Amino acid sequence: MKQEDKIFYGKYADKLEEIRVLMMTEIQTILDSISTDPETAPAEHLKCRIKGSESLKEKLRKKNMEQTPEYALKNLSDIVGARVVTHFIGDIYTVSDLIEKSDKWQVRKIKDYIAAPKPNGYRSLHMILSVPFGVGGIDYVNTEIQMRTIAMDCWASLEHQLKYKKTIRNTALIVEELKRCADEMASTDLSMQTIKDMIHNDSF
Ligand code: GTP
Ligand code: MG
Repeated sequence: MKQEDKIFYGKYADKLEEIRVLMMTEIQTILDSISTDPETAPAEHLKCRIKGSESLKEKLRKKNMEQTPEYALKNLSDIVGARVVTHFIGDIYTVSDLIEKSDKWQVRKIKDYIAAPKPNGYRSLHMILSVPFGVGGIDYVNTEIQMRTIAMDCWASLEHQLKYKKTIRNTALIVEELKRCADEMASTDLSMQTIKDMIHNDSF
């Protein structure tokens, strides 16, 4: 954790780092339980981060919320966040079923933006977890796991660049083209899953 973040999170910093490691370790264990063979491993990569204090304060400011770690810990769900990027759509549901069964946390909410994409084309499966905390009278904190395919991840990072670049020409065209790409990628993700199933379920 950066020094400025350590200062902002104060007495909560160590526990947040502990939760980050717990999530990383537990998700990696789940991934390994499916397959450790690089050829069939479900995830392309796994990341787990603690939100930087600057971006956290900016989010609180935008939502007109109090800019303190206590307030954020009680009201936000992405101070600790993990991202699992999979090869195939099916992997997302295989992994999320196992995440639900883990005894390290309680799954509070699942937002399936794959079944119901956002209007801009954003697709991912978001899981909100409640994880034991136990510092400063805060018993539990919510954390977020985002799960998406490589194609969805590539799309989300490009779309994110658009969101943060304020002065841009042709925004309407870019938005429309991004939406088209999202839909084409979703269609290809489905075809890839179908081909994979045909290869593996062939009983001859
Ligand atoms: P916040 O957006 O975090 O305030 O919470 P929310 O309750 O609106 O949840 P939502 O599921 O919409 O978003 C949570 C996170 O998912 C965001 O912080 C982003 O990291 C990611 N996300 C959601 N929508 C989009 C999107 O349209 N584009 C991209 N690139 N990322 C998104
Ligand atoms: Mg949002």
